[in-house]
Amino acid sequence: MPTPVNVAVIYYSSTGTVAAIAKAMAEDAERAGARVRLRRAAELAPRSAVDANPAWAANVEATASVPEAAPDDIVWADAVIFGSPTRYGNVTAQLKQFIDTLGGLWQSGQLADKVYSGFTASATTHGGQESTLLALYNTIHHFGGILVAPGYTDPSKFVDGNPYGTSHVAGQGDIPVGAQTLTAARVQAERVVKFTRAIKAGLAAEG
Ligand SMILES: Cc1cc2nc3c(=O)[nH]c(=O)nc-3n(C[C@H](O)[C@H](O)[C@H](O)COP(=O)(O)O)c2cc1C
Repeated sequence: MPTPVNVAVIYYSSTGTVAAIAKAMAEDAERAGARVRLRRAAELAPRSAVDANPAWAANVEATASVPEAAPDDIVWADAVIFGSPTRYGNVTAQLKQFIDTLGGLWQSGQLADKVYSGFTASATTHGGQESTLLALYNTIHHFGGILVAPGYTDPSKFVDGNPYGTSHVAGQGDIPVGAQTLTAARVQAERVVKFTRAIKAGLAAEG
């Protein structure tokens, strides 16, 4: 019987792009045999800002049933896949705020020895997808995490061209998540599950 693995997909999304990738990533990880928790980082923006943008308000409503991320989701997980839209080439404050609540777990070593991976979206092609994922991955080194990025390990990666993690160019919200991004999400989720399972089984065998 394959080693059971727990995967937490933890994301922030304003206008629904990253939420759509997160949902696909969670379903793909489940199909690959993992137990999955899909969680969203809490909103920090004032309600007036959300309501001023119909796409933002619609996403808040559409994802209201997705539980908010909590530190226990990280404790539970063998692998964590973080998702964040780019903000000036960086991770959103909302996802970062969640990560910043993990200090106690970091101090007690509970963030280490897990697999981590990431995905993102931006408005424009060279708008900071790579820098956002690399910024996220800085943090993973502090965790003592095991980074599993997609690299060019599947023919589809030579088409989407982003070895750092699934990334979507959303334009002004007028470019919905399509086949290329969904393929990238599947490839990444399968790779995360595969290596999490192998690492967990290997560590268990060592005792
Ligand atoms: C404050 C702010 C900063 C942003 N910075 C960038 C940026 O540097 N480059 C870019 O291409 N898009 C940028 N965007 C656009 C978002 O990345 C884009 O709307 C997001 O990826 C869509 O994902 P979502 O639908 O999940 O919110 C920014 C948006 C906001 C609100």
